[in-house]
Amino acid sequence: MQIELVTGDITAERVDAIVNAANSSLLGGGGVDGAIHRKGGPAILDECRALRASRYGRGLPVGQAVATTAGRLPARWVIHTVGPVWSETEDRSPLLRRCYQSSLAVAGELGAASVAFPLISSGVYRWPKEDAVMQALTAIGAPPPGVELLRLVLFDDDTRQAAERVRQALHDRQ
Ligand code: APR
Repeated sequence: MQIELVTGDITAERVDAIVNAANSSLLGGGGVDGAIHRKGGPAILDECRALRASRYGRGLPVGQAVATTAGRLPARWVIHTVGPVWSETEDRSPLLRRCYQSSLAVAGELGAASVAFPLISSGVYRWPKEDAVMQALTAIGAPPPGVELLRLVLFDDDTRQAAERVRQALHDRQ
């Protein structure tokens, strides 16, 4: 399946599920996380707190994903995942790819037909944007049955153009 590359604000995406670049606390933060909680409203945090009080007492581990309501957002669900922080010395790319794979698996379980991802770990977690795109595009292979639309939402045109270059380079290599 071709994943769409778009420039935009993921909170405005009219898809079944949007993926949140969360942290292990699940209790909010800045960037995508801050925007989702701010615009989605308290229902999202209420469900995150309930998850912390039950299945994720020690927080959501890096690479895993869990869904909540999307509250007031156009989407139906938010799939929270925790990306790895960029490291100069340790190759954490399998963990970053696992974020996309885990989120897609959750989307399949939910019955989501359309999913939008941000560029996980490429903001506060400092992952170089082009490599972050490479990890996203190589991680997302065959989507689960029922998922018909996948979208990578870049926050600015420069990043989207970089993503187009990465996708073209991957295509040329095939
Ligand atoms: N829509 C789409 N993309 C966005 C938005 C938005 N509203 N806001 C930011 N981005 C982009 C950033 O420019 C970056 O490219 O999403 C990418 C991921 O950036 P972050 O949100 O900073 O996420 P990450 O790098 O994974 O860091 C996660 O930051 O916000 C905290 O609580 C969060 O501790 C966690 C950490």
